[in-house]
Amino acid sequence: MRIQIPRGTQDILPGEVEKWQYIEQKARDLCKRYGYEEIRTPMFESTELFIRGVGDTTDIVQKEMYTFEDRGERSLTLRPEGTAPTVRAFVEKKLFGNPDQPTKLYYIGPMFRYERPQAGRMRQFYQFGIEALGSNDPSLDAEVIALAMELYRSLGLKKLRLVMNSLGDTESRKKHKEALINHFKPHIHEFCGDCQARLETNPLRILDCKKDRDHELMKTAPAVLDYLNDDSRHYFEQVQSYLRMMGIDFVVDATLVRGLDYYNHTAFEIMSEAEGFGAITTLSGGGRYNGLVQEIGGPETPGIGFALSIERLLLALEAEGITLPIDKHVDCYFVAHGEKAQAEATVLLYKLRQAGFSAEKDYLHKKMKAQFKAADRKHAKFTAILGEDEIEQGKISVKEMETGVQETVPLDEFISYLTKRLS
Ligand code: HAM
Repeated sequence: MRIQIPRGTQDILPGEVEKWQYIEQKARDLCKRYGYEEIRTPMFESTELFIRGVGDTTDIVQKEMYTFEDRGERSLTLRPEGTAPTVRAFVEKKLFGNPDQPTKLYYIGPMFRYERPQAGRMRQFYQFGIEALGSNDPSLDAEVIALAMELYRSLGLKKLRLVMNSLGDTESRKKHKEALINHFKPHIHEFCGDCQARLETNPLRILDCKKDRDHELMKTAPAVLDYLNDDSRHYFEQVQSYLRMMGIDFVVDATLVRGLDYYNHTAFEIMSEAEGFGAITTLSGGGRYNGLVQEIGGPETPGIGFALSIERLLLALEAEGITLPIDKHVDCYFVAHGEKAQAEATVLLYKLRQAGFSAEKDYLHKKMKAQFKAADRKHAKFTAILGEDEIEQGKISVKEMETGVQETVPLDEFISYLTKRLS
């Protein structure tokens, strides 16, 4: 049987991978400007981390984790997200002890969720995410959101919608939870099995149920914003006020609930409003998680972050018809004919690369015409031509592809000549 790629995964081939590199570089540059440093955590972690971190009543933990036992009978899980691992490292490596707080980190890497694959939903997907740990200042919430929006905008996306909500602090959440239980309980038998199971443990998740979305009780469900205490309300107002001052548009949606359990206060998602974007319009999501560090065994430390997947970002770019300005050129392509010319080209190619330029040649002894075509396909700035005449005269012809202007230079001056022309 032919071996095929696992369902919900993809090969990212040359031609496509340049887009990924471009986006990743943009993200890295942005993080540098905003003061976020990279962290790389393992691809798998103790299963316990996600049960405690993400929450055992979430879809991720209940249905979507790639969990396995290793030969030492430890239960391990391929990371479904990057926040819990980052917090685990923050606690384990005592990053809270560093003099500069908050600790601002970012990550780019694959995450794994056993979901039903469709456009924008993969079983292995790449997240870029940031986490800021150690400050409860609303300006940090605004900063995280601003960074997310700036990444999208810097890539040319325009049709975006930033949706915000506040889940409030523990006290507010508790009151809201009680209200939700009272609201749904008398009619819970009309809801799906998942919702029934969630009633007592995590009623907030009922609001996010796809199956029961049109049930009458969904529309009249108590809104979390009505249960915020004064501190929580004030905090949320401050975040909004910073965003307004920064000129970042948003809408408040009291029905926004996130799929992970660790959130409190600020929660947000960024959606694509581009026509033709698939069924899943959420490009990224994040929020504040003030209890997570403690949950994972660290000192009481507030946190906030967000993550996006590069897969969905690429879909959004496509939907808005944006082509990334990817530079595919090669500085010089050698067109050589005959054994001596091939040998000369091999050495000059090496020297040119050593001098810091990108250069390529033919390895299949193709006819010169075919080599010129290859130079075009490689978007060569210059072609260096070594035919029999050139070899006889100890010279090389250099053609600037854009203008078609050709010059002949002595072989031993070629590198310095091209260095001057290319710089
Ligand atoms: P999340 O909402 O589960 O949050 O995922 C964040 C983003 O990852 C989504 O908005 C989407 O772009 C992408 N994503 C999720 N699942 C898939 C999938 N199966 N295929 C493609 N893309 C996907 C988190 O993961 C939180 N850790 C975010 C966060 C960071 N909150 C605070 N800090």
